[in-house]
Amino acid sequence: MAKFIQVSFLFVVALCFLSFPSVIYSEDVPQPPVSQFHIQGQVYCDTCRAGFITELSEFIPGASLRLQCKDKENGDVTFTEVGYTRAEGLYSMLVERDHKNEFCEITLISSGRKDCNEIPTEGWVKPSLKFILNTVNGTTRTVNPLGFFKKEALPKCAQVYNKLGMYPPNM
Ligand SMILES: *[C@@H]1O[C@H](CO)[C@@H](O)[C@H](O)[C@H]1NC(C)=O
Repeated sequence: MAKFIQVSFLFVVALCFLSFPSVIYSEDVPQPPVSQFHIQGQVYCDTCRAGFITELSEFIPGASLRLQCKDKENGDVTFTEVGYTRAEGLYSMLVERDHKNEFCEITLISSGRKDCNEIPTEGWVKPSLKFILNTVNGTTRTVNPLGFFKKEALPKCAQVYNKLGMYPPNM
């Protein structure tokens, strides 16, 4: 009797090993749907080299930027996507699944304008946006606009700074 129990126990164990992989890897098992959403924003020409949008800023079509996410723990790149701006400097990228255990970042790659293609790197102006990307399926997440610096600030910018009660930076 003891022997019989032992044998049938082994049989059950063997059965488990045999049947599990087929359940896990079977193509017939429907996969849960992947959630999808859009991330959108705008790219502008910072005609005043201000580091923020002013009334003289102009949106740039034909610019490109990169969205990249990295694993929080080991820094491995988990997701990369390139987006391009259209009219009004608007871009939209499709993102599949939440990236909540990752750090994501959007960086400017290239501008559609030769006179306005400097990526700000000095001082407090951020050349990229960093965030955690988790959104509900089907929704759109809008992030802050990113700006390229114009090579030379417009003379009219002095008035803009005046209105804001700010000293103009070295222009
Ligand atoms: C998310 O929305 C897409 C498009 O509407 C749909 O195909 C997909 O099944 C949805 N995913 C989830 C997890 O609900």
